[in-house]
Amino acid sequence: MTSGKYLSVFTLATKQQRKENFEDYWRFTQQHGGELYEAEQDLAKKRAKLKYFKDNPVKLHKPLVDPDAFYRNYIEMKDDPKSLDRLTIMLTGMYKFARHEWVGIKGAWDVVPDMANSHSLEDKISRIHLAEEFCHWRLFDEMLRTCGLDKVEWMPLSPWKEWVYEQFPKVPGFLMDTPAFVTELMGVTYYFHLHRLFDDILADEPEVRQRMKELLDEITIDEVAHVGQRRNFIGPIGMKISKWMVKPLYTLFFNDIPEVGQLFDVKQMINDGEAFDFNEVPDYMIERTWIPSYCKA
Ligand SMILES: [Fe+2]
Ligand SMILES: [Fe+2]
Repeated sequence: MTSGKYLSVFTLATKQQRKENFEDYWRFTQQHGGELYEAEQDLAKKRAKLKYFKDNPVKLHKPLVDPDAFYRNYIEMKDDPKSLDRLTIMLTGMYKFARHEWVGIKGAWDVVPDMANSHSLEDKISRIHLAEEFCHWRLFDEMLRTCGLDKVEWMPLSPWKEWVYEQFPKVPGFLMDTPAFVTELMGVTYYFHLHRLFDDILADEPEVRQRMKELLDEITIDEVAHVGQRRNFIGPIGMKISKWMVKPLYTLFFNDIPEVGQLFDVKQMINDGEAFDFNEVPDYMIERTWIPSYCKA
């Protein structure tokens, strides 16, 4: 199966290699998203892509059996999840995952320097990175709309959790870089598993299945690049800590979203995170994403 073209994401790199890779990533990211619209937390190419999806909508042939079941459980699971159909559970789970991401970026956007005040390459990269995350949130919203859910509200988390997310970007880099990297890796793991779940749950809905995959791919391609980029912040000790952190961080995060345990094999997700080496990333994504030079065999 694996072609062996790429090495583990936990492969060590020298300071010089990382410096060169930041320069390379910066070249990549500018052409990848196009112009940054800072006031709107948006990027030109991403906006055009989302507009294309919105201008060419597809719909479920068989609408959701009970949309109220989604609206009743999407912010917090109120019913017994076993009483819900799998499509509804997949969608409430997706909302919850995206909601965490949205809260995290909202908290960070106001704390990190804007582009005019970003003097280092790393700061500039981080600003574009956050704008991309806002685009992911819009793409998730569009996935829910594609399944007929156009009344979704994006709700803040509890004040305590919001506060935690707001503190995260203020923490010094040497403490923050490892969890930030593992969080991106966790995203990629979830998106790959979700992509496969579409085949299963949307088997009878080829148009929507295809559209959901296209929307998700837009996110995954960015996230694979983020994995390499966030990895590039980390030296040898941090790399060991990161690998060690995969299991507790995945467990903690996914335990908070009951849908994940019901639809996915979390143990397998942890294994996939620990073993991640870009070889499973399909070629059509490789062409559009970014991989650190030292992860190439
Ligand atoms: Fe994202
Ligand atoms: Fe990301």
